[in-house]
Amino acid sequence: MHGPMNRICIFGAGSIGCYVGGRLAACGAPVTLIGRERIGREIAQHGLHLTDWQGATLDVSPDGLRFATTGEAAADAALVLVTVKSADTDAAGQSLARVLRDETVVVSFQNGLDNPKQLKRHLIRQVVLAGMVPFNVVNRGRGAFRQGSEGVLEVERHAALAGFETLFVAAGLPLAQQSDLRPAQWAKLLLNLNNSINALCGLPRKEQLSQRDYRRCVSLAQREALALLEHAGIRPARLTPLPPGWIPTLLSSPDWLFARLANRMLAIDPFARSSMWEDLEAGRRTEVDWLNGEIVRLARGQDRAAPVNARLVELVRAAEAGGERNWRGAAPDDRPMTAISN
Ligand SMILES: NC(=O)c1ccc[n+]([C@@H]2O[C@H](COP(=O)([O-])OP(=O)(O)OC[C@H]3O[C@@H](n4cnc5c(N)ncnc54)[C@H](OP(=O)(O)O)[C@@H]3O)[C@@H](O)[C@H]2O)c1
Repeated sequence: MHGPMNRICIFGAGSIGCYVGGRLAACGAPVTLIGRERIGREIAQHGLHLTDWQGATLDVSPDGLRFATTGEAAADAALVLVTVKSADTDAAGQSLARVLRDETVVVSFQNGLDNPKQLKRHLIRQVVLAGMVPFNVVNRGRGAFRQGSEGVLEVERHAALAGFETLFVAAGLPLAQQSDLRPAQWAKLLLNLNNSINALCGLPRKEQLSQRDYRRCVSLAQREALALLEHAGIRPARLTPLPPGWIPTLLSSPDWLFARLANRMLAIDPFARSSMWEDLEAGRRTEVDWLNGEIVRLARGQDRAAPVNARLVELVRAAEAGGERNWRGAAPDDRPMTAISN
């Protein structure tokens, strides 16, 4: 039996939050989702319908979990998973700080590297851990969420997680605990450097990655990041069949060769786009400052520049303010900072 002491709260009932929280609820865990009213209404009407790329299907009825729209609902949580976008982390931290007990464990399952630190600034007495979600989840509407790719949740190792391990295994989401999560976080960030390029070109991800000009932009952004990481002595983990250092070369290959070598990378829903594109569509602030912006900060810390990623940050900021969103990928090799030019 699960009592209130091991209630799990998901702060940010969106794609990741509803999927992970829903899977935990499906195996009997007491779960509270904190999210927006519109998602609450969908769940009240349809429950959650969770599927994955391997054909798994799980249904959670509306009374199989608790839904709330404010942070107070986290007061009785033993574990909180923060799954808001990075721009909302600060507000999430503030809201949680008002109600969490000291012994509550908080895991940030967000992209980028800075979110756990941002949370820690508010949650000074709680254990705050970094987490990493390697797979993607798409919100298909009416309570349906689909995990579209493989991968295992990673989290910083901590004794406080011991009470939850079995539950995550039962939910089909085992936690791979790492003493240092930064190599995995950096590896994920390298892959996420494509999000800005996808958002700026306005094409579905599959179509974008099928075009060498756009892949070259990603390759330039990754090469720049890899050089800075090497200089900083950081070795990104290997999350893909190819080691991170080889991916830029693969991306730069001609279309015919890329299609042969990277069929896994192209095995994506033909209509799927990046969440950064969705943020621009919805007029929300994007996560560009926590992704390409992290590379710019890494460069600054080394008294160096990161012109490709700085340019991508600049273009996404302009797009957030209503600017251009159909950039082409043509990139003269001698002007890499304009990897994207119209
Ligand atoms: N989706 C993926 O496939 C994926 C994969 C790996 C990692 N990630 C990372 O995981 C994190 C979450 O991504 P996501 O795609 O799940 O985001 P998402 O779908 O936008 O979900 C976040 C939800 O939290 C809500 N929210 C924000 N602040 C709130 C508050 N104070 N109270 C209640 N609800 C609040 C948002 O509402 P509004 O939109 O109305 O603000 C949104 O519905 C991001 O860092 C992302 O980069 C995502």
